[in-house]
Amino acid sequence: MIIIGCSEGKDVGKRVAKRLKKPYSELIADHFPDKESHIRFKVNLKGKKVVLVQSFYGGNEQIMEALFAAYTAKDLGAKKVILVAPYLAYMRQDKRFHSGECVSSHVVAKLFKIFDGIISIDPHLHRIKKLSDLFKKMKAKSITANPLMGDYIKKNFKNAVVVGPDEESYQWAKSVAKKAGTDVVVLKKKRYSSRNVKIKMNYDVEGKEVVIVDDIISTGHTIMEAAKEAKRLGAKNVHAVCVHGIFAENAYSKLKKLGVKKIVSTNTIPNKAAEIDVSGIIAESLN
Ligand code: R5P
Repeated sequence: MIIIGCSEGKDVGKRVAKRLKKPYSELIADHFPDKESHIRFKVNLKGKKVVLVQSFYGGNEQIMEALFAAYTAKDLGAKKVILVAPYLAYMRQDKRFHSGECVSSHVVAKLFKIFDGIISIDPHLHRIKKLSDLFKKMKAKSITANPLMGDYIKKNFKNAVVVGPDEESYQWAKSVAKKAGTDVVVLKKKRYSSRNVKIKMNYDVEGKEVVIVDDIISTGHTIMEAAKEAKRLGAKNVHAVCVHGIFAENAYSKLKKLGVKKIVSTNTIPNKAAEIDVSGIIAESLN
């Protein structure tokens, strides 16, 4: 086995290789003068199980890079090519919400058919229940960072309550709270648009350390509304812990400005809040 860090998978890739005591190499991913992608491996892949580590956020380029790399690895004689996608993009677009819209998660699954397997951390599965229902012709494994988040909360917050900002979040809020040894509350969320959400809470949070837990913080609006509600109800402090910290449109600063005290994510996406390391659970699932 050899672990290859793609442009957005270097840090996690290196950590995984170290844990597994396997060789690690970085993919050369740069551009020709006309901005087309130029992909090159620095190592011999013949007969090897090649694990490409790539997170997919902040644009579409990472998708092309992973595809070019996968086809090239096979062309160079790799026995198998496995994709480790700590953050897998487009999973939220799992139905046609508006007429004429692309169901992007289905397209991503079709594009990724070249891979022999895929491992991802807490992919946003809602209408699609299992990753293998989407990535049908390969070994598809979804692993969860919930226990890591639960441990983090247990270690870092006293008198805490875990809050899931919407019904969808119940699945992870419940297991995070169990690991953290706290109560769990799930709020009612109504989304009017991608940037306009309203939230209601029925739980006494007065004097508590409220830890809002979600799989993704993108624009931060979901957390912001939950935080406002928790503060209105007398929470002592409000914190946010998530798996994938996208923090689009300056979400991190907006959350801070609103008074969210501690903002923490895993390192599926590199960012300044990434305090929880997922390399251990990835290494376990590759073993
Ligand atoms: C929604 O279904 C997800 O679980 C997150 O709550 C959502 O993606 C967060 O997005 P934003 O930060 O833009 O509100």
